[in-house]
Amino acid sequence: MAEAKKGKALKIAVIGGDGTGPEVTAEAVKVLKAVGRLEGISYEMKDFDLGGERYLKTGEILPDPVFNELKTFDAILLGAVGHPDVAPGILEKGLLLELRFRLDQYINLRPVKLYPGVETPLAGKGPDDIDFVVVRENTEDMYVGMGGFLRKGTADEVAMQTAIYTRKGCERCIRWAFEYTKKRNRRKRLTLVAKTNVLTYGHDLWWRTFQEVGKEYPDIEKDYNHVDACCMWMVKNPEYYDVIVTTNMFGDIITDLAAILQGGMGVAAGGNINPAPGGVSMFEPMGGSAPKYTGKNMINPIAAIGAAALLLEQSGYEAAAARVFKAIQVVTGTKMKSQAAGKMGYGTTEIGDLVCEALG
Ligand code: IPM
Ligand code: MN
Repeated sequence: MAEAKKGKALKIAVIGGDGTGPEVTAEAVKVLKAVGRLEGISYEMKDFDLGGERYLKTGEILPDPVFNELKTFDAILLGAVGHPDVAPGILEKGLLLELRFRLDQYINLRPVKLYPGVETPLAGKGPDDIDFVVVRENTEDMYVGMGGFLRKGTADEVAMQTAIYTRKGCERCIRWAFEYTKKRNRRKRLTLVAKTNVLTYGHDLWWRTFQEVGKEYPDIEKDYNHVDACCMWMVKNPEYYDVIVTTNMFGDIITDLAAILQGGMGVAAGGNINPAPGGVSMFEPMGGSAPKYTGKNMINPIAAIGAAALLLEQSGYEAAAARVFKAIQVVTGTKMKSQAAGKMGYGTTEIGDLVCEALG
């Protein structure tokens, strides 16, 4: 976690992106400003016009000068990428994954917390039961884009998509997860989620690294689940989990399952973190661009506001972050009828206002 920049403005690049992305980031920015006034944090914010519209107009996804400018910010707040007129994968790979990789955001932090008043599909489980964190490796695995075709389009076609795991890559993620578990100071249990019974090379490296790094943390319970079993336990006994550390691909999958347990994409937020000094981290709601709700003031901004709170927390403004998380819970617990778009009982901008009011 970065040190708060005492007396200096926190520089935030805002990429609203596609569809409802700009609407939800506007509410997140509103809350950042409000909590900044209360906590004495000043910002330097700049909007970046990146995403599907720009790509369709100019063919540009992430031009070098823009990337170089983004590197000069402390953090990035991202709305959503994904445009109905752009083939799937182009923006995801060209913008989202490109930023994660080139900014070396090797941690994908996804807190899974059921806020008061939010409905979970799990019968008999409440906010005390659903409160864990997934630390997903964010720069390796099948996401590296290595592979190719042989005899493409023929009956003898071969496709290869390689999963890469490096000692350095898993070690830095595992160590960060141990530190996070220590700091969280809850159940003091870190669960490695992998598939060592089948992925006997790559996940063996993860397993050995987990055991070795774990020796530095005698007070943390070193736990292991195969990924398939984890999906089962997460639904049956979510209260068992404290912090999970996992590979990029498995982390992608289990965090969608986890997100639905906490009330869905309107609520779930995450951070792509480069913990190195001067590293630029990026925070985003987990949901997509939801194009059908664009401009209707119907989309839920809670996830984007949660992403802003994570931004504050990971930038060293922990008191301000806690204040935002508390305000979110006041609003979900006492105001909102539902977390689904159009069913909240309020419009997008009103939810932002309510969170600002609840900051106290
Ligand atoms: C996520 C998303 C991305 C991923 C996609 C959009 C490339 O699903 O942030 O989890 O797979 O990481
Ligand atoms: Mn995903």
